[in-house]
Amino acid sequence: MQQTLILLKPDAVQRRLVGAITGRLEAKGLRLVALKLVATPHELAEAHYAVHKGKPFYDSLLTFLTSGPTVAMVWEGREAVAACRNLMGTTDGAKAAPGTVRGDFALSVQNNLVHGSDSPENAATEIALWFTPAELTKSTPTDANWVG
Ligand code: RTP
Ligand code: MG
Repeated sequence: MQQTLILLKPDAVQRRLVGAITGRLEAKGLRLVALKLVATPHELAEAHYAVHKGKPFYDSLLTFLTSGPTVAMVWEGREAVAACRNLMGTTDGAKAAPGTVRGDFALSVQNNLVHGSDSPENAATEIALWFTPAELTKSTPTDANWVG
């Protein structure tokens, strides 16, 4: 089953939106595999956003991601990567569609509450950055016949 890394960035924690955002992922039918609250080390933030190194917003993005606790989670389910990206909405909160997390709760480009892996390959890399194998739980869902 496909897995994806979801981060609730420091603005989501500070704005007390952790429950609201997590509730949407649960209601969609995705299954929670791992969850922890992380005081993100600078080196982890650098590795996570390495693809953006050199861009004008990179330093500010690292300062943002290390500015307070972040909720790191692994979710799984059918097409989990695309399903989560759709629930998140596009990067700029001001332009994200209503009904999405960013569309409903964010106005900023940088402070857009949530990160989601953008491919299954990147999800595997990112999950390994944020979690040890032992932290990834395995369980048999009891509702698989209903959620699919
Ligand atoms: P994410 O990686 O966090 O899921 O977000 P994304 O795919 O929608 O956007 P991406 O292009 O990967 O950018 C990563 C994060 O960098 C911040 N950002 N700031 N000031 C800017 O122009 C700018 N552009 C991007 C956002 O926090 C974005 O989520
Ligand atoms: Mg991205």
